[in-house]
Amino acid sequence: MAAGAKPLIDPAHFPADDGGAYLAPQVLVDVTHDMRVMREESFGPVVGIMKVKDDAEAIALMNDSDYGLTASIWTKDADAAAEIGNHLETGTIFMNRADYLDPALVWTGTKDTGRGPVQPWLSGPDPAQILPSEKGDEMNLRANWSYPTAIKFGAGRISELAEQAQAVGIKRPLLVTDKALAGLPITARALDILDAAGLGRAVFSDVDPNPNEGNMDAGIAVYKAGGHDGVICFGGGSALDLGKMIALMAGQTISVWDLEDIGDWWTRADAGKIAPIIAVPTTAGTGSEVGRAGVLTNSQTHKKKIIFHPKLMPAVTICDPELTVGMPKFITAGTGMDAFAHCLEAYCSPFYHPMSQGIALEGLRLVNEYLPRAYHTPDDLEARAQMMSAAAMGATAFQKGLGAIHSLSHPVGAVYGNHHGTTNAVVMPMVLDFNRPAIETLLGRAADYLGIKGGFDGFRARVIDLRAELGIPQNLSAMGSNAPVWTS
Ligand SMILES: NC(=O)c1ccc[n+]([C@@H]2O[C@H](COP(=O)([O-])OP(=O)(O)OC[C@H]3O[C@@H](n4cnc5c(N)ncnc54)[C@H](O)[C@@H]3O)[C@@H](O)[C@H]2O)c1
Repeated sequence: MAAGAKPLIDPAHFPADDGGAYLAPQVLVDVTHDMRVMREESFGPVVGIMKVKDDAEAIALMNDSDYGLTASIWTKDADAAAEIGNHLETGTIFMNRADYLDPALVWTGTKDTGRGPVQPWLSGPDPAQILPSEKGDEMNLRANWSYPTAIKFGAGRISELAEQAQAVGIKRPLLVTDKALAGLPITARALDILDAAGLGRAVFSDVDPNPNEGNMDAGIAVYKAGGHDGVICFGGGSALDLGKMIALMAGQTISVWDLEDIGDWWTRADAGKIAPIIAVPTTAGTGSEVGRAGVLTNSQTHKKKIIFHPKLMPAVTICDPELTVGMPKFITAGTGMDAFAHCLEAYCSPFYHPMSQGIALEGLRLVNEYLPRAYHTPDDLEARAQMMSAAAMGATAFQKGLGAIHSLSHPVGAVYGNHHGTTNAVVMPMVLDFNRPAIETLLGRAADYLGIKGGFDGFRARVIDLRAELGIPQNLSAMGSNAPVWTS
């Protein structure tokens, strides 16, 4: 400071250790590169802020140092970060965070030994090695995952639809969607992409909400007449599930009801006759895009049945959050709460499955944090992406089991035709109350993780607040569950 640097923090709040080598926390402005504070090694969280005219000057100044163990780069431009990283003579580079304190990290490489020789996975510049930002900046919300299936995740990745179809051997796909989606630009774009690659633009869209076996039979007829060899399931859970049913049943001789998710009934199917499936979700809730089941309503018995076969897991899923931006607000709300219900019930299910437990807990956090943002700011792509992840996480986690929320919402949906996720949200507080003796401690832990005060009661209050913020009705009558959907 004697050289002219100006402190932004009042040193009185952070007295330095008397006589020690540690400096008190400080942020300095008006510093120049030749000041001692910028050139000498110091022990203490002291930051000097300099303005430079471009990246080249920043790199030159950073490299003009006798030390340089660690550097941090904050940017939304992954290419620029990698380029800077390529030219920095430092041990470890942090991307978009500087708070990672792995005990093994103490001296990770020096200027002399080159970048990250001890722990190269912590260093740049390969973008695959960039440490994720805690804030989840958009630059990081793109990835190729391999479980529970191949997932191409990221904004704009619908452009890969044709190449992914070809990669799994589909030459004449049938794109299955619902009536409303069939008229939207996102569907036209998907068909254009297929058409441009010589895969045609065949569509089947006679799909009801809570689809039934009549929808399936009509779709199978179109599939067979068109000589198709695979299904692209494009839409919300209704279109995804119905597309999966077409792929499953087009080559079978048994009834679809023989494949209900009971014991080993799935072994009754001729697995070799199940067509390849590509899933492209346009809502963020059901997680059907990463599930091995489809929900089909029996229009004779008015019961919703879960139809299961391991080969119903899509061969490839494209999770493109841009596709969800145009959802009606109440569908954003209801589907988001569906993801929350999946995570909540999987988390509370008594079966032993710690992997699912962990996934469910983080899924709850993502919905709690990002669903209000996606609801209020529909084009917030970061919120949309996090919700798309949470949806996939919910369905991955509910291998551990679901509970009374779904036991109630399935029959209600089958009888009254209500939106599934919205119904889940309506019954959620009552089910929490009913299950309280069994889940109180568990939910207390979840509340802590989500940053909600008050344990079980705090969690329950948050559910009520979330529902109110998202315009979700408080009970089934308010939702319009007054007359069955069938007339006979
Ligand atoms: N397979 C599973 O594991 C699973 C899990 C949960 C629910 N489900 C099933 O999924 C179905 C519900 O799916 P859902 O909640 O996604 O709703 P949905 O598929 O019924 O779609 C709801 C409405 O939103 C519209 N829509 C969808 N995406 C849109 C977009 N991007 N822009 C504009 N409009 C859009 C649709 O046209 C439709 O009118 C139910 O049948 C439920 O039983 C299945």
